Amino acid sequence: MTAAITGAPTAAPAESRPAGSRLAGSLAPMSSAQRRSAMLEAEIARDASRFRILTGDRPTGALHLGHYFGTLANRVRLQDLGAEVFVLIADYQVLTDRDVAGRLDDHVMGLAMDYLAIGIDPARTVIFAHSAAPALNQLLLPFLSLVSVPELQRNPTVKDEIAHSRQSSVSGLMFTYPVHQAADILFCKANLVPVGADQLPHVEVTRMIARRFAERYGPVFPVPDALLSRAPALLGTDGGKMSKSRGNAIAISATADETARLIKGAKTDSIRPVTYDPAARPEVSSLVLLAALCLDRDPAQVAAEIGDGGASALKATVTEAVNERFAAIRARRAELAGDPGYVRRIVREGNARASEIANSTLNEVRAAMGMIY
Ligand code: TRP
Repeated sequence: MTAAITGAPTAAPAESRPAGSRLAGSLAPMSSAQRRSAMLEAEIARDASRFRILTGDRPTGALHLGHYFGTLANRVRLQDLGAEVFVLIADYQVLTDRDVAGRLDDHVMGLAMDYLAIGIDPARTVIFAHSAAPALNQLLLPFLSLVSVPELQRNPTVKDEIAHSRQSSVSGLMFTYPVHQAADILFCKANLVPVGADQLPHVEVTRMIARRFAERYGPVFPVPDALLSRAPALLGTDGGKMSKSRGNAIAISATADETARLIKGAKTDSIRPVTYDPAARPEVSSLVLLAALCLDRDPAQVAAEIGDGGASALKATVTEAVNERFAAIRARRAELAGDPGYVRRIVREGNARASEIANSTLNEVRAAMGMIY
């Protein structure tokens, strides 16, 4: 079992990591964000309680195994290490690239069920929707005054989303949502934001806003750090990016039969033996990686054991590994689905807690800005 798959803290620089580690990208030089994250992991291992963490998801559909191994499991780990965690359901953000957010209530409740099923503990962690914390949203106004239009237009993640948007024109929310995200992060004075690499530009916007607010009005906010997840990306069953909207994702809430069917239809190649070689054989390697993640094992070893069994043996291994790893989570999820009143109560309590904190932060902001009359 390597540190890189489980998300256990590693502070080792790239050149001193074990040469046997065969995970995607693990031998590439570390970026400065990865180096910073490794340092932060060392601090988390020393004392997680000094971190207040905020991260979240857009409620656009069921969370899948890519989310689980990419970020969700990491949230549970940080919670269990004693960090204070806020999990945001970013419902306004759904409206960045579409006119209407469909089935919002179903998706919000579904997300909350996924969180609870995987081990987010509502006694320690706040689960809330940003639309339900009015004072959080009001932070958008002073924050917008701290960024320039060209800065908003330069954001590479926003540019990419505009390129893939199905809308004929770009909404104002599309350009300003990274600033809204700064409000998400700063309303609770989070100092750590676990994210994927695509979200780094947004954390940069947040850092810039926190600094500029301090320069203009005095210190209210910490300058938060991004914490990059080290789990390598899983591909969808068609070999593309695993995505809620592409029909290529295995949902956390999928049944064992649905899982078997999705994996049966997954793209592979006809080369024997099975090997773990993400660059040359992305589809086969992603299936190997999924099995390895579920089994907490090294992907190269998993591939070697399947060897000449080829694609059919690989699929059997992956199906069994996923269904075993997620059996308890899925059972818990089904139980929660049978008790929607409980789940709604958790979200309402989270909303109330978030709103209370947002009110208090907004009061500090207005005081710093001379707006208490
Ligand atoms: N933009 C994130 C996504 O699309 C969701 C999100 C909204 C978020 N606000 C956040 C993530 C604040 C981290 C911190 O997945």
